[in-house]
Amino acid sequence: MSIEYDPLEFKKIVPYTRDELVAALHEHLSDYRAEHCLRVEQQAMQIAAKVDADVTKAGLAGLLHDYAKERSNAEFIAMIQKKQLDPDLLNYGNAIWHGVVGRYFIEAELDIHDEAILQAVARHTVGDPAMTTLDKIIFVADFVEPGRNFPGIDEARQALAVSLDAAVAYELQHTILYLVEKQAKIFPRTFETYNVLGIHKED
Ligand SMILES: [Fe+2]
Ligand SMILES: [Fe+2]
Repeated sequence: MSIEYDPLEFKKIVPYTRDELVAALHEHLSDYRAEHCLRVEQQAMQIAAKVDADVTKAGLAGLLHDYAKERSNAEFIAMIQKKQLDPDLLNYGNAIWHGVVGRYFIEAELDIHDEAILQAVARHTVGDPAMTTLDKIIFVADFVEPGRNFPGIDEARQALAVSLDAAVAYELQHTILYLVEKQAKIFPRTFETYNVLGIHKED
């Protein structure tokens, strides 16, 4: 059963209807990715309901998390410069930018300024040692939404059945291993996040 927004809560945050946001997603994303966003929206709302978090913010952050994913590198670089973001970002690419930098496209184009939502979007690509519950919900919802199918997905869903933190830890371990196997560069904050939220803790 799908979870719906509380219309009053929604209106407090977004100057558009949900249909208009979905239309904006389709304007900027392939159908494949827009549909992923709809699944992450619903997955995030389900997790939020379970852990007693803000269902409206979880849904909105889930819906919009990949809003900027299909922008050109030139657009991201221009935004990094315009917002005077850390120049080290220029050493990375779309996989990092679409969250960390993507939040500014949401603010500018969709007139959404809720910091908790924007932060959850920003952190979904790299994590953060101080992730809030909402940040964790989007991080995990993106990873386990029903359209996902990769080696490890069953373990990720099992971890989520245990707790949100267990799912965050599994995702960090899985992501770092995957990037090392690909011999890809790893954003330092992802290691910092792993060191706090991804390690086995002795009781
Ligand atoms: Fe993403
Ligand atoms: Fe995503």
